[in-house]
Amino acid sequence: MLIEIPAVLDAAGIAEVRGVIDEGEWVDGNVTSGHQSALAKHNTQLVEASPAARKAGGLILDALGRTPLFIAAALPHSIYPPLFNRYQGGQAFGNHVDNAVRIQRGSNFRIRSDLSATLFLEDPESYDGGELLIEHNFGTQAVKLPAGHMVLYPASSVHRVAPVTRGRRTASFFWLQSMVRDTESRQLLFGLDTAIQQVAQTLGHSDETVIRMTGIYHNLLRKWTDL
Ligand code: NI
Repeated sequence: MLIEIPAVLDAAGIAEVRGVIDEGEWVDGNVTSGHQSALAKHNTQLVEASPAARKAGGLILDALGRTPLFIAAALPHSIYPPLFNRYQGGQAFGNHVDNAVRIQRGSNFRIRSDLSATLFLEDPESYDGGELLIEHNFGTQAVKLPAGHMVLYPASSVHRVAPVTRGRRTASFFWLQSMVRDTESRQLLFGLDTAIQQVAQTLGHSDETVIRMTGIYHNLLRKWTDL
């Protein structure tokens, strides 16, 4: 399941992140690739763990912490420090799968990648192509979102980025380990949480049924969480 998280960054947030990364050092994107990906990947990437990447990544992590829809959908346990990439002049990234485990160079930080995320940082009208194409059970879905919006998708899916034939596509991408490893269980929890929020709009959060359903949500979360 793909989940769109709108407005992770507002216009000021986008400008702040872009101000930081546009001044940073960009290199060939293959520095973070696995062997298979390296053959398919043609883009540039902000140097990982550089001051610009750390600062902009921190801004994004702060924004994610203020986004309840992200928390509900991802149930994040650990988030890999956000990376940044850029495609222009026909650059693309062919079909690949993301590595199951991500280890941050020079540290003990490692995560199991349950979910992949792309946060778009460029006005979609300003470039052609650059869709993120994600294969799932029902076919291939093309994702190209307004700046500041993000898509979450299972890290297990085969995906690619279509060639950028005009302008430039800038995005942040990262992986996260969820507290709930199993995709289906995580989706059930998200569906239940969403339904409870809707019922609570009408009945109020102190309604007896809402309280009992909230209890069921937390008991399922407790049952399925690994920390
Ligand atoms: Ni990927």
